[in-house]
Amino acid sequence: MKKKLLTGDRPTGKMHLGHYVGSLKNRVLLQDQYDCYFIIADLHTLTTRPDREAILGIRDNVKEMVLDYLSVGIDPTKTCIYLQSACPAVYEMNLLFEMFVTVNRLMGMPSLKEMARNAHIEPESFPFGLLGYPVLQAADILMAPADVVPVGKDNEPHIECTRDIARRFNQHYGDVFPMPEVISGEVPSLVGTDGKNKMSKSLNNCIYLSDDAATVSKKIKGMYTDPNRIHADTLGTVEGNPVFIYHDAFNTNKEEVEDLKTRYRKGTVTDVEVKDKLTTAINTMLEPFRVKRKELEQDKGFIEEVIYDGTMKMIAQSNETLKKARSAMGLTGGWNKISRVARERKGL
Ligand code: TRP
Repeated sequence: MKKKLLTGDRPTGKMHLGHYVGSLKNRVLLQDQYDCYFIIADLHTLTTRPDREAILGIRDNVKEMVLDYLSVGIDPTKTCIYLQSACPAVYEMNLLFEMFVTVNRLMGMPSLKEMARNAHIEPESFPFGLLGYPVLQAADILMAPADVVPVGKDNEPHIECTRDIARRFNQHYGDVFPMPEVISGEVPSLVGTDGKNKMSKSLNNCIYLSDDAATVSKKIKGMYTDPNRIHADTLGTVEGNPVFIYHDAFNTNKEEVEDLKTRYRKGTVTDVEVKDKLTTAINTMLEPFRVKRKELEQDKGFIEEVIYDGTMKMIAQSNETLKKARSAMGLTGGWNKISRVARERKGL
């Protein structure tokens, strides 16, 4: 039997090239090796944005995100894609797990403070739910229950916390949960088109998987390169130059990349040529995704059906796990006894 893998994303919007090299590309490969589950973690989005507009926004984002998944080759016949908020077990599992982690442990996580900072949340307004972000994630992982979790560096402490929770639960109540392992994608985050920050929606420095060819071309034309290179015959620097970082990441013609680098260093190639070749490389990569996307968009209701099927599957599996956890804790027995006595007394 294949090991169970779980990973996923908060539905914050369209996915970009950073998501592709950082995780999606790898997920396409992993789906043949593992029994895969991809969570659409909409409840996690609420930890920083519980307002009505955010929730309405999530609805559109969910579909966009699944379109992105399927366009790049995630195959719903191999992978279960599910909507977190539609799985009743996760809410209950979250509460049970809250008992197996300390406030201190959670407060020590830099990822939570960073999320608060990015969302402009002042320390005195720090939501209880945000402190519980890793606990909710533990509920996702352990209710599947997953054996492996591919996540980025920033999420690794959350998986460590998941293991702690599983360990402590098991210490009290027996061998209920597996110890999930991280598969770390060793890929560092991709720099944005601004050449300064990592690619991120809020910084307006993204090339989206759903961008058309003309948009990609325009964005690359506007990219920062070597700031010291004023003329085409100035000797250029390749290292740390975002245009060359992209060539390395997306141009499959390695000879062309080496040739461009050599000429760039010698000052015998124009920025225009380097960028044009990059545009071609990225558009060549994105073109099959665009075709697939169009096909999916025309198949009315298909995305909804994928999410529905995946969610029904996860609802069943997570209910099973929850039942096991509740019964290991003796909670089920307590209620069973009370209801038996009460029903007998009522003559039912
Ligand atoms: N925390 C992940 C993120 O940064 C999303 C997520 C929620 C997740 N639950 C998960 C990832 C379970 C892996 C496993 O967006």
